[in-house]
Amino acid sequence: MDLAGTGRTATTAVEDITGVQHAVIDAFTPGWRHDPYRSYDILRAAGPFVPGPLGPSLVPGYAECDAILQNPAWSHAEESELLHPDSDVELPGSFLWMEPPDHTRLRGLVSKAFTPRRIEGMRGHAEQVVASLLERALADGEVDLVEALAYPLPLTMVCELLGVPASEHGAIRRMSAGIARGLDPDALMSPAELANRTAAVGEFLDFFGALVADRRARPRQDLISALAQVEAEDDRLTAAEMLGTLLVLVVAGHETTVNLISNGILALIRHPDQFELLRQTPGLALPAVDEMLRYDAPAQLTTRTARQEITLSGHTFAPGDSLILMLGSANRDPDAFTDPDRLDLTRYARRARVNRHLAFGLGLHYCIGASLVRLEVEVALRAIARRVSAITLLADPPPYRPNLVVRGMSELPVRLTAST
Ligand code: HEM
Repeated sequence: MDLAGTGRTATTAVEDITGVQHAVIDAFTPGWRHDPYRSYDILRAAGPFVPGPLGPSLVPGYAECDAILQNPAWSHAEESELLHPDSDVELPGSFLWMEPPDHTRLRGLVSKAFTPRRIEGMRGHAEQVVASLLERALADGEVDLVEALAYPLPLTMVCELLGVPASEHGAIRRMSAGIARGLDPDALMSPAELANRTAAVGEFLDFFGALVADRRARPRQDLISALAQVEAEDDRLTAAEMLGTLLVLVVAGHETTVNLISNGILALIRHPDQFELLRQTPGLALPAVDEMLRYDAPAQLTTRTARQEITLSGHTFAPGDSLILMLGSANRDPDAFTDPDRLDLTRYARRARVNRHLAFGLGLHYCIGASLVRLEVEVALRAIARRVSAITLLADPPPYRPNLVVRGMSELPVRLTAST
């Protein structure tokens, strides 16, 4: 498929072990969006490094993704150039796309907001938010679960953490959706989507610029006030870094969690035995979060670029060589996980050693929000286990958003039956 006359294609053809050619990545086909996992099987069988449609090779296997993420000789700083050569906006500096020492300095400032004590302190509020959303959804009976639960829960929690007033949730949602769509490679987006990203980033910078100024003048007990104080009082944080940090917290911290909740609930609908197990054993809610992350990763891919010559799995990479790490595929690698296509809520509850999933990345850039995600989704699953006896899918398959990097549904229409 020619992409908007660019001559680039979104399809990769690989030979499988029987020598048959398959077109395995076509981000425009609805069928692929519903289930990309069969095409990942073919990619893994094709070898550890498969030529990719956008230039960099694809890395579909667990062992290579795991090794690359843990090796700081692979940098994440080149992603913007790699995926967004057509960008006409300067995305402000965020530590997700930085390397030490700047990465270490900025991550250190933000990580104070994510200590286990602070996150555990958000449990009560998460329970209240989930209870009110779920009771409303049960009263309605037939709902779109993205709209009713998956979207509002993480939006409310991330806004609480940052200190964004509830009246602004709608604006945050609009900006964050435009920017999250823009995380996909430019080559996969239409001119209208690219323009929408430019507008969304501009709106984001104006909105948060004003909020930071307000908190600098009138500090409160929130993360923006804490960062504004650092920015004002010493030179550890520039104004651009401040906005870049907020951008990644809002977009990475929100859109991904929305998709974990909806992808996870869809997985429960498709595995009724596991839903019943969760209902009978609500204590499985926490390990279930990790199994859902493994089973259908919300962040499907990331990139790395070699900073020096590196040899891995028989290939030698030169400095500047880039790779696309397929986290969603690595998490379904049969060489790393027993029965990888089965949702098994007990997988991370057993004492036996199980490979960690790569849905939160690994190493230097390991997701800073992982404990907040586990808290929010555990609370949601516990409430569902207690209050819901059946979830019936009303559109099968449900519609997916076009996003490739942040994978998830645009709607999840269901009928909920309350437990008696
Ligand atoms: C299900 C939800 C989430 C998923 C699947 C997810 C996934 C990821 C992944 C894969 C990375 C590493 C990317 C790489 O190494 O290339 C990452 C980093 C990051 N995530 Fe998350 N994330 C989630 C939720 C959150 C939340 C709730 C927050 C904060 C509120 C957050 C903030 C960040 C930040 C700041 C980084 C950059 C860390 C660094 O570079 O040191 N994420 N996330």
